[in-house]
Amino acid sequence: MRKVGFAVGRTSTKWITVRLEDKVLIDDLIIVGNGLLGVVRGVSYANPTMSPYSPFTPTNVEAIKAYEYQNANVELYGSINRGRFDPRILSAIPTGTPAYKVERGDLEELAFIENPIFVGEHPSSKWPLPLDSRAIDYHVAVVGATGSGKSHLVRLLVKELVRTGKRVVVFDHTGVDYSPYFRDQVITDDNIFPDLFSLAEVMANKVLGKDYLDDAEVSLYTYLYSEGDLEKVRNFMESLGFGSGEFDMEAISKLREISPMNINWDDEPFIATLRVVMGYLKRKDHTIAKSLFRLAKSGISLSSFNGRKYDINDLIDHILDEDLTILDISSETLPIRYGIMRGVMSGIMDRAERREDKLNIAIVVDEAQVYAKGQPPTGALSDVARRGRKWGIGLILVSQRWVSDLDINIRANINSVVFSSLQSSSDLDDIGKIVSLGDIDTGILGTGDFYVTGLLSPFRRPILMHTFGEGS
Ligand SMILES: Nc1ncnc2c1ncn2[C@@H]1O[C@H](COP(=O)(O)OP(=O)(O)O)[C@@H](O)[C@H]1O
Ligand SMILES: [Mg+2]
Repeated sequence: MRKVGFAVGRTSTKWITVRLEDKVLIDDLIIVGNGLLGVVRGVSYANPTMSPYSPFTPTNVEAIKAYEYQNANVELYGSINRGRFDPRILSAIPTGTPAYKVERGDLEELAFIENPIFVGEHPSSKWPLPLDSRAIDYHVAVVGATGSGKSHLVRLLVKELVRTGKRVVVFDHTGVDYSPYFRDQVITDDNIFPDLFSLAEVMANKVLGKDYLDDAEVSLYTYLYSEGDLEKVRNFMESLGFGSGEFDMEAISKLREISPMNINWDDEPFIATLRVVMGYLKRKDHTIAKSLFRLAKSGISLSSFNGRKYDINDLIDHILDEDLTILDISSETLPIRYGIMRGVMSGIMDRAERREDKLNIAIVVDEAQVYAKGQPPTGALSDVARRGRKWGIGLILVSQRWVSDLDINIRANINSVVFSSLQSSSDLDDIGKIVSLGDIDTGILGTGDFYVTGLLSPFRRPILMHTFGEGS
C-alpha cells in the first residue's frame, strides 16, 4: 500500500474525492482510512487562479503551479472488516482520511467470496480477481470486438468451471477456438445424427424451396419407414389415409420404434420416395419434376448421415456424463447446426425437468450472433435464459455486440456482462439497464482487458480485469 492523498470535500458512502499527493490512474484500487475499498473512476487537475471566470490573467507560470492540485474521483465498493469484504458501507469517513493505492499482495489474504474462480487479474495491483461462480446460473454475456480476447477468456473460464465441479458444454462455431485446446473432449458435428426436422429444413432451404418443407419432412419419415422400398412407401402413405387408403395407426406406431441411426440412408431411393410422396400430396407434375431435378443436382448426400455415432439423445447422455464436452459444429451446414443446438438446449431442459434435479451445467455458445437472435435456436436459448436458473443450467454467450446480436428475451435474463471495447456506444447504455455501470471509461481497453460487471464481479460493480496469458 502506498499513500497517495487524503479525502477532501463532501464524502459519502458511495463516492469520495481524494486530493492527490502522488500519481494514480483510472481503475487503480484505493483503500481509504482503515477499511474502505474503492476504485479510481476519474482524475482531474484544478487551479483556482486558472478559473475561466477569473478577471485576472496570471503571468508568472511558476507562481501559478503552486496553486495547482489534482483530485481523483473514487467510487467505493465496500468495506473490509476483520479480513472479509463487505459490500455495505454504513457511514461516511471524515475529510482528511488518508487514501492508499493498492499494490501487489495487498488484497491476497482477504476473503471475498466462497469458492472463487480466477481468469485474470486487476491490472495495476496484479490482484488475481476472485469471481463468483454462482453467477453462471444467472447467465453471463461476454461482449467485445473481434480480437479483444473473448474466446481466450472463455477458455480460461471453462477450465475454472470444470475445476470447481461444473459440467460444461461448448458450442465451438469455428472449430478452432476450443477444439484444439481440449482435444480429448471433442465431438464433431459430422458424428451427430440431426433430428429429421432439421434435415427437412436443409432440404427445403437449400434445394426444394421453403414452400416444400412439408414434402421434405413427410418424405424423410416415409423413408424412415420404407428405406426407399417403393412398395412400402405406398403402403405407408395409404395407411395414413392418402390415395385410396384408409387411416390405420399401425404404421405410425411402428415409426416410433425405428431409429434413423439404424437404417441405411441412400440418395437415389430417397429421390424415388420423394417422387411418390409428392404425388400423394397432390403436388402438380411440374413441381414434382422440378423438385426431383433440384434434389438430384444439389449434392446433398443423405448417405453422409450413415454410421454416425450419436443422435441428439445420445449426445445429451454424453454431455451429462462428462465434465466437459466440446461440440465442434464447424463442418455441417447452418440448418443442421441450428438443429443440433436447438435439440441440445431443449433436451437438457427436458432432462432437468424430468429428473426434477439441478444439473449444475454451463452451456457456452461462442459467436452467439449466429444463433441468438431471430434464428431457429433462439427460442430454445431464450427458454434456457428464462427458466434455466431453477435447474442449475447457466448460459455463457459470447458475441461482438450486445443489442444487435442477442435477442431481447435473452438479454433481459443475463445478470453478468463481461465486456471489452464495444463498437457501439448504445450497447453500453443498454448494458447499463441490466447491470450497474457507474462511470467507467471503455476507451482505454486493449486485448485481454475486460470490465467484469454484475453478479460475477466480487463487488457487483464494474472492475477492470486483464485475462491471464497463454499457458497459465
Ligand atoms: N490475456 C491475453 N494474453 C495474451 N494473449 C491474449 C490474451 N487474450 C487474448 N490473447 C490473444 O489475442 C488473440 C485474439 O483473442 P481471441 O480470444 O481469439 O479474441 P476474440 O474471441 O475476442 O476474437 C488470440 O491470439 C489470443 O491468444
Ligand atoms: Mg472468438
